[in-house]
Amino acid sequence: MIQFRNIRKSFGDIRVLDDVSLDVPAGEVFFLIGASGVGKSVLIKHLIGLLSPDRGEIWLDGEEISRFSEKQMFAVRKKCAMVFQHSTLLDSMTCVDNVALPLRKHCNLSVTDARTQAMGLLELVHMRPFANHFPAELGDGMRKRVAIARALGLKPRYILFDEPTTSLDPVSARRVDRLIRELSDNLGVTSVVVSHDLVSIFAIADRIAMLYKGAVRLLGNRNDFQTSSDAIVQQFIQGRAQGPMES
Ligand SMILES: Nc1ncnc2c1ncn2[C@@H]1O[C@H](COP(=O)(O)OP(=O)(O)OP(=O)(O)O)[C@@H](O)[C@H]1O
Ligand SMILES: [Mg+2]
Repeated sequence: MIQFRNIRKSFGDIRVLDDVSLDVPAGEVFFLIGASGVGKSVLIKHLIGLLSPDRGEIWLDGEEISRFSEKQMFAVRKKCAMVFQHSTLLDSMTCVDNVALPLRKHCNLSVTDARTQAMGLLELVHMRPFANHFPAELGDGMRKRVAIARALGLKPRYILFDEPTTSLDPVSARRVDRLIRELSDNLGVTSVVVSHDLVSIFAIADRIAMLYKGAVRLLGNRNDFQTSSDAIVQQFIQGRAQGPMES
């Protein structure tokens, strides 16, 4: 379980997060939404120690991690993988070698064993037929799935997805959605998904939190969002999201 408690974070004079509290129970597909610049990426970066809060606490599986040392953070990053918005695959390696790389590094596997496991992971994301292709030969959606396979290698309990379907065509986007749902349903992975994609949000989210002006505006399921009488929420889910300064 992930718990954010009263998180505050400023950059210079700008307070991005003022007082954010939310819980993500294990096994959920949890969406974090809100206008561009509201602090969604900033919030999830706190979970893997890329940022630390000015105030507040972050708990992961009953441990307060926000003041962990770099060394302690290492274990957190094994448990909590992040799939970044832009592909971070190495162009000089085939897909299977990209997926095998962290297995060799962190699990001390031989090249052959790492490759065998990597093939299994590519199978999970339905990319096995492309194992020997180079990332540059694939579309964005396929690269995203390979990046997810690589993240799965260290058997994370949590995966953080920063805009997994942004810039994908609709067919690829829905495949990534299905995959995120499968990871939760079949492997028990907990996913935190930052997204603007209303189709994804309403198709696969167990729960959704909307950030607005430094705090959680609404936290609930699809129905709570659709029936909310809050104009700010309605504006967002009807696809008329405004920038953070316009309201
Ligand atoms: N390392 C940083 N240093 C200074 N300012 C930062 C840093 N990271 C983020 N910010 C600022 O914090 C604000 C929130 O950024 P963040 O990337 O979390 O937005 P977001 O909600 O993810 O938006 P988007 O939907 O466009 O990705 C922005 O104004 C951004 O410029
Ligand atoms: Mg972002």
